[in-house]
Amino acid sequence: MARLCHPKCRLGNKSMGWLQFLLGGLVIIFSICGLVKFYSAGFFFHNEDICRQFTGVKDAYEGFDIKALSDRVGEVVNKLESLQEKLESAVQQMEKDKETLPNITKFEYKKYLEEEVIRPLYAAHISLRLIRLPKAEGIHNSTMKEEPLINTFVIEEIRKYITPKESRTGKLNIYGTERIYNTIGHACVLYKKELEEYMSYDIGSYCNDDWNLAQKLMLNGCDPLPRRRCLTRASMVYQKPYPINESLWKLPDDRNVRWSNYQCRNFKCLMGNNTKRGYFKCVGCFEMEKEELKWVTNSSLSVDFLISDVLTIKPGEMRIGLDFGIGTGSFAARMREHNITVVSTALNLKAPFNEMIALRGLIPLFVTLNQRLPFFDNTMDMIHTSGFLDGWIDLQLLDFILFDWDRILRPGGLLWIDRFFCVRKDLDDFMYMFLQLRYKKHKWAISPKSKDEVYFSALLEKPPRAI
Ligand SMILES: *[C@@H]1O[C@H](CO)[C@@H](O)[C@H](O)[C@H]1NC(C)=O
Ligand SMILES: *[C@@H]1O[C@H](CO)[C@@H](O)[C@H](O)[C@H]1NC(C)=O
Ligand SMILES: *[C@@H]1O[C@H](CO)[C@@H](O)[C@H](O)[C@H]1NC(C)=O
Ligand SMILES: *[C@@H]1O[C@H](CO)[C@@H](O)[C@H](O)[C@H]1NC(C)=O
Ligand SMILES: *[C@@H]1O[C@H](CO)[C@@H](O)[C@H](O)[C@H]1NC(C)=O
Ligand SMILES: *[C@@H]1O[C@H](CO)[C@@H](O)[C@H](O)[C@H]1NC(C)=O
Repeated sequence: MARLCHPKCRLGNKSMGWLQFLLGGLVIIFSICGLVKFYSAGFFFHNEDICRQFTGVKDAYEGFDIKALSDRVGEVVNKLESLQEKLESAVQQMEKDKETLPNITKFEYKKYLEEEVIRPLYAAHISLRLIRLPKAEGIHNSTMKEEPLINTFVIEEIRKYITPKESRTGKLNIYGTERIYNTIGHACVLYKKELEEYMSYDIGSYCNDDWNLAQKLMLNGCDPLPRRRCLTRASMVYQKPYPINESLWKLPDDRNVRWSNYQCRNFKCLMGNNTKRGYFKCVGCFEMEKEELKWVTNSSLSVDFLISDVLTIKPGEMRIGLDFGIGTGSFAARMREHNITVVSTALNLKAPFNEMIALRGLIPLFVTLNQRLPFFDNTMDMIHTSGFLDGWIDLQLLDFILFDWDRILRPGGLLWIDRFFCVRKDLDDFMYMFLQLRYKKHKWAISPKSKDEVYFSALLEKPPRAI
């Protein structure tokens, strides 16, 4: 009550602070209102229609990502709007409590300005700065008005990564190009949140233990994935690997794998008879005694060819190859015994397939189906595929993959399709796919898998291409 009776008492030193605060708030609010009006008038391309009003022609914004740009601008505008609302409601609150208002200390006033005004303003300022405006004249000699995807990402490290790097001398680099483009898969834009999580780290410090996030991104089309500038974690008790004369057919040391992202905690647990093994592709692949029988012992199924039979087709000619599938590298191990170097593709689908292959002394190639294979044309003596491509695969996708395999196989190279399986009624479609390349048929077999499914194996030779 005392306060109410003595309104003058508020006109002390501290009231100056109030006055400054109110005036400051009003200045900010007016400038923001101006900005918001400017925005709603369409100065920042709100959507295509408004954009057309200003530019007249659609062509004017071809070559840059109008959507990403307007998203970024929208973010800044939202930040400013919420700041405005906050300040307005603070002012209203003050009006309401005019009489009962407690004195605000300088300290509180400073704190309020810092936390509630300066910080959000700063964030909006940074966001504005991050927006790269399109260059009307195009980038270098291209018609593109901005670097691809640059306004799509907010995290600074991703933007740094995808910004092309010119050579320091200003001349052409060793490849004869002007710039080095670090690439990422275009589907990265669909996994913006995950990618930003992946790329949030302190440069030079330890990365999170997030290989599974990386693999998830790759499998979802964010492939290639950006490189990172943090240190990958390793097993704390890493042991030196077994010598090659022992490692090929022996389960590796459990201590050489980081198990935290798997259901199992050691290799024994990955046995096929363990129902809690956590993975479902290539069940039994971790049982070395079973793996040792593959491709060297007669099987009851006609679709199982023997390595010795395959190699006698081209004696001495097979030296390098690719095993495209899911497995622990046993095919490559067998081929190594024939002095043939085979690279095995591997994805860690709920089990450490990559680590297993590497610890056996073989080469795991961590690739998905998304990408062109990283081998040059006409280079491989052999491609073996098993356990991965089967009836689920889209025919057009299979077509692209088959032509890519054809590209890397050398003339006279062998394509060994091993136990491809599909439902019986789809067999003709897949046969057509495999036969369209007009390879020479060395071996060809079909066996029933279950009531409606069949296995299919073939050994095909790429013909010479004398054109
Ligand atoms: C406000 O400040 C005046 C003097 O500046 C003081 O007399 C009064 O008690 C203060 N009121 C409150 C609620 O702190
Ligand atoms: C653009 O192309 C011209 C010739 O085609 C070349 O002389 C010039 O250096 C190029 N400029 C840039 C920035 O690439
Ligand atoms: C493997 O080779 C090393 C020497 O290179 C030898 O000492 C060791 O006994 C061999 N191991 C087996 C299982 O043959
Ligand atoms: C799985 O089979 C192996 C032998 O291959 C055996 O030693 C092990 O006890 C079996 N595990 C289970 C859970 O049955
Ligand atoms: C597989 O069977 C064939 C005859 O059917 C025989 O000639 C060959 O020796 C057998 N190979 C093995 C590894 O058992
Ligand atoms: C592989 O190479 C080694 C050394 O050159 C040789 O001793 C061995 O007989 C070869 N093995 C086969 C299966 O050709």
